[in-house]
Amino acid sequence: MSNFLNKKNNYKKYVVDSKLRYFKPHATKVEKSFAEEITSSLTQNSKFINPKFFYDKKGSDLFELICLLPEYYLTRTEISILKNFQSSISLYVDMNTNLVELGSGSSVKTRLILDILTKLQPKTEYFPIDISEILTESSEQLLNDYDTLHITGIVDSYERGLEFLKNYDDKKNLILFLGSSFGNFTPDIGKLFLDNIFSTMKSGDLFLIGLDLVKDNNILESAYDDSQGITSKFNLNVLSRINDELDADFNIDNFSHYSLYNETEQRIEMNLRSLVSQSVIIGKSNMSLNFNQDELIHTEYSHKYHISQIEKLLIDVGFEIKNMWLDDKKYFSLTLVSKN
Ligand code: AVI
Repeated sequence: MSNFLNKKNNYKKYVVDSKLRYFKPHATKVEKSFAEEITSSLTQNSKFINPKFFYDKKGSDLFELICLLPEYYLTRTEISILKNFQSSISLYVDMNTNLVELGSGSSVKTRLILDILTKLQPKTEYFPIDISEILTESSEQLLNDYDTLHITGIVDSYERGLEFLKNYDDKKNLILFLGSSFGNFTPDIGKLFLDNIFSTMKSGDLFLIGLDLVKDNNILESAYDDSQGITSKFNLNVLSRINDELDADFNIDNFSHYSLYNETEQRIEMNLRSLVSQSVIIGKSNMSLNFNQDELIHTEYSHKYHISQIEKLLIDVGFEIKNMWLDDKKYFSLTLVSKN
């Protein structure tokens, strides 16, 4: 049996219609549950919560609002760069290019690429890879708007999804990883992540990564502590999620959003600060946690880069840099690399 059939057999295929289908692994891999991860991370000397837990329905809605905030320049700047980059895409892709996206994507950004790909080729296949449900209304909308589009979702981790796609067909893949999501990894996890991406890519595949750049501290700090308090709600919402899903009794009013830019580490560090000395019960895990007044729960890093650091990071993995695009203010970067 070919390698691909082997891999394919680990997935169940769900066909929605002739243009929309998705693959989901048969058995969910042995991954720690939300309860296990939270119990473990909140009982360390330095308490933390993995930022992947921000994105329940409420958290995802709040993140959408963050992307529209005047202080949060990242999304609109990346979109403006993509608009400029649109005309250059045809220099790098051929008539047989699949679009692969890590994360189900903001359809605004995906559309900017699809606008071009669907003009260049008679049929375009789009593969969003996401661990959570991806085939939402936005897929239907995309299919309505692009006649020649076919969507195949892969409901799995980015690395396993790419591994699945490796032998899917002979077409060139253009893989998108936008929004500076890479910046949320710690440097060591980030390096491993890029190594994994590289090893799952075929020769000739392209990878387009959006990364936020180092800039004035005040601009950075306001982007993560906006005047309307939306980022604060987004950060605190993870405690409400723990209350709802793990039967906990966090009093949200007893915590506050605290974020700062750490210049040495080149990252925004987001935390929740306990305003009083308090204990919290997590019913589902049958445990009680103590917090000192001013104790911090670390919730997110958001790394910022110098251009030379981005180049080094990607070259060290083995990529060849094809091009880098910036906005006029040099706030944000989009880098296109290939595996030769
Ligand atoms: C998803 N990620 C790239 C965002 C960021 O900018 O690090 C998450 C975020 N956290 C607070 N605001 C936005």
